[in-house]
Amino acid sequence: MSNKPIIIANWKMKLSTKEAVDLVKQIKAKVGKNNNVIVCPSFISINEVAKNLGKEIGLGAQDCFWEGVGSFTGEVSVNQLTEAGCQYVIVGHSERRKYLNETDEMVHNKTKMAISAGLIPIVCVGETFEQRQTGGQDYVIINQVTKALEGIEIKNDQSVIIAYEPVWVIGTGQAISPAEASHTHDVIRQVLIDLYGSQLVNNNFKIIYGGSVDQHNVNSFTALENIHGVLVGIASLKAEDFLPLIQNA
Ligand code: PGA
Repeated sequence: MSNKPIIIANWKMKLSTKEAVDLVKQIKAKVGKNNNVIVCPSFISINEVAKNLGKEIGLGAQDCFWEGVGSFTGEVSVNQLTEAGCQYVIVGHSERRKYLNETDEMVHNKTKMAISAGLIPIVCVGETFEQRQTGGQDYVIINQVTKALEGIEIKNDQSVIIAYEPVWVIGTGQAISPAEASHTHDVIRQVLIDLYGSQLVNNNFKIIYGGSVDQHNVNSFTALENIHGVLVGIASLKAEDFLPLIQNA
């Protein structure tokens, strides 16, 4: 990963395969090789999107399973993802934690499996509004990051992206302030240093922000030294929103 801000498009369950392919073609026509743009389509669109990516754009999945192979109806393995051309996989998104009851343990196991397959996991952490109101925000983040990674060895040639996404601002159009995000990024960085030491953290970890990032506010986040990129939902679904966002980052 270069030092340019990482821009990850999380298309959730919102685009048909045709729409995803059309969008990726438009992105490819505009971005240069030096951009760290990564798109995460639905599983069913990954193969078609992969054919249309070129070298300019990275490919990620929105989830993976924690076992390598076996009788797990409906699940998708990390090897199936790498075979399809993915280099990245989102794990522990708050929507999966909420609607599919994903626990910290599942997030840990998925992260471990992703790393073992050579994928770069994009591990999502974030507090709910209630947790923030009751002052438990930092504790929640420390706990989630620790449980996701503790005991997992990261080698020199392996990387991890942590995405800080305050759950209560996702999809609202109202991001938190860059200063607030920056505070939490420092908290996350400290947890990582406690787990892995500063050299590995400097070289192999990126910490990005997600939650109502758009073309107007993106630069206020990516301009900060400790915010290495953004995870974008709604503002990544249309070329007219996403291309200016990439430009402004
Ligand atoms: P949003 O979604 O940009 O629409 O807030 C971000 C995410 O859920 O990853």
